[in-house]
Amino acid sequence: LIVYVDDLSQTKPRNLGGFFTGWKNPPSKEKLLEILRNSDYVVLAVDNETGNVIGFINALSDKVLYAYIPMLEVLPAHQGQGIGTKLVNLMLEKLKNFYAVDLCCDEEIESFYQHFDFHKVSGMIKRNYKNLK
Ligand SMILES: CC(C)(COP(=O)(O)OP(=O)(O)OC[C@H]1O[C@@H](n2cnc3c(N)ncnc32)[C@H](O)[C@@H]1OP(=O)(O)O)[C@@H](O)C(=O)NCCC(=O)NCCS
Repeated sequence: LIVYVDDLSQTKPRNLGGFFTGWKNPPSKEKLLEILRNSDYVVLAVDNETGNVIGFINALSDKVLYAYIPMLEVLPAHQGQGIGTKLVNLMLEKLKNFYAVDLCCDEEIESFYQHFDFHKVSGMIKRNYKNLK
């Protein structure tokens, strides 16, 4: 059974395998746990038999106007079952009182976010690949 939680107390690095598919230099499970702990908001989809995380979304915020969603990911074997949609909806509920909820995504994911009333803007990003850890 999949449960949705916003609490990391039961999550260990070993529960965070399989993410960052396609990344050349993916963060370790330990770093992913650190990323989630340091985030202002997080929602996890967890297999309640194993405790393994099968999807997550995180957000960073100034706690007044803006929130930013850096990452949303569902394990490849569990994609296309509505888990990503559920994670976004649960996060948007947490962020509903902010003026702005922003994210960047690849073009092929735009139609996914349009379901939640996100719209396309132009953006600028800077990436220091040497700092991937
Ligand atoms: C994007 C992602 C989180 C969606 O999660 P998911 O659990 O598979 O999504 P859902 O099952 O809730 O699908 C919702 C809708 O989005 C569509 N969709 C899902 N992934 C898609 C993709 N990669 N490209 C285009 N559409 C996609 C589904 O077809 C579905 O549409 P439908 O309801 O009209 O059939 C997941 O595919 C993923 O982890 N991808 C790799 C990481 C990534 O790209 N993250 C986004 C970074 S901003």
